[in-house]
Amino acid sequence: MEYRFSKRLAHVTPSVLRENAKKNMSAENTISFAYGFPSTQAFPMDTLREISEKLYTQYNPDTFLQYAPSEGYPILRKLIKERLDERCGIHNDEEVIVVSGSSQAMDLTVKALCDEGDIVLCEEQTFSGAVKAIQSYGAIPMPIPMNIGEQSVDLDALETLLRENDRVKMIYIIPTFQNPLGTSMPLEKRQALYDLAHRYDIIIFEDDPYGDLLYYGEPIAKIKSLDVDERVIYAGSFSKILAPSTRLGFAMAAKPLLDKLVVAKQVADSHSNYYWQVMLTEYMLNYDFEGHVDYLRDIYRERLDAMTEALNKLPADKISYIKPTGGYFIGCTMAGDVDPELFYEALNTCNVAVIPGNIMSVTGEGYEHDFRLNFTRPSVEEIKSGIAFIGQALQAASHPSYQTVS
Ligand SMILES: Cc1ncc(COP(=O)(O)O)c(C=O)c1O
Repeated sequence: MEYRFSKRLAHVTPSVLRENAKKNMSAENTISFAYGFPSTQAFPMDTLREISEKLYTQYNPDTFLQYAPSEGYPILRKLIKERLDERCGIHNDEEVIVVSGSSQAMDLTVKALCDEGDIVLCEEQTFSGAVKAIQSYGAIPMPIPMNIGEQSVDLDALETLLRENDRVKMIYIIPTFQNPLGTSMPLEKRQALYDLAHRYDIIIFEDDPYGDLLYYGEPIAKIKSLDVDERVIYAGSFSKILAPSTRLGFAMAAKPLLDKLVVAKQVADSHSNYYWQVMLTEYMLNYDFEGHVDYLRDIYRERLDAMTEALNKLPADKISYIKPTGGYFIGCTMAGDVDPELFYEALNTCNVAVIPGNIMSVTGEGYEHDFRLNFTRPSVEEIKSGIAFIGQALQAASHPSYQTVS
């Protein structure tokens, strides 16, 4: 039969990252810097086994295997809110909704706020899941140019976009440990972005799945903590600090927004995984969850250091990057005389996988000289040898006649 699909999904292609992950999971002898995955060592197996055992032996099955409230398990919602208050300086009386991964927070938000043709402004290189969520409702993701040196969107360019487009509904932004760039917006830029959103009366979606994973320096205030007029939807995730398979994330927003997200969620999946919500609640209440997050910071800091040490051994005229202070990724740029096609080909030959810039760009093209490296999944040994291969590929793909027009 010939299927007549909706126009809405006609231009939304399968996620290259998800497809890549499937391939790389099974590929032998591949050093993958492509994943946005936690390390295998990151999962607190013994604690999870103990809590699960407790649920099955001491809990009434109705309290973790039954249907649950769409907003989420009340105790967990309270714990998340307290955590945001204590650890992120987000003090307000807004509530949180538990969602199925922070990806769902974005999906529900676009569903609740955007009509076809509405515009969502995004950093020019960003999380492709968000771009697809925007497209899937017929809204338009529009890139905001970055000022990489300032680790921020270009605020003048943002103002121009806001002035010239009257259908902008929302700014989608990853201000902390950005994916794919690894950058973190300084506080004054966050405040300036918030002020612009206020002036043009636009909602901000602050996506913060990596925020807990700070390895160096002091945390920077969340945009949500600057939110004096309830225009910021703040989303967090337990994928990176517990396990992606829990599919647990959350969103904090003002009541009218949250009520809409709840309606959208009821349509989507009724509620998020109750078993995992109760598991997480037990963990946060009766076990050392913050100790686990500290442990993750320690193992990932070591990997970040190994990667930057290895990158620093490569010729500085061939590759540049900004060292992140946290998160999962380092965004790299190869020099103009490196032919990206030859570079990716050479990497393929030595079984090293990275994410090329075009995959993480809002338009799906350009940025061939940029690539993303993940440092949380590979071991220190893999990092050392994989980055050395990247050095060889850069040399192999460099030729004096090749020069991009910048
Ligand atoms: C910026 C960003 N937002 C959201 C997500 C999705 O996270 P979750 O597993 O909570 O849906 C990711 C995951 O890769 C991400 O990088």
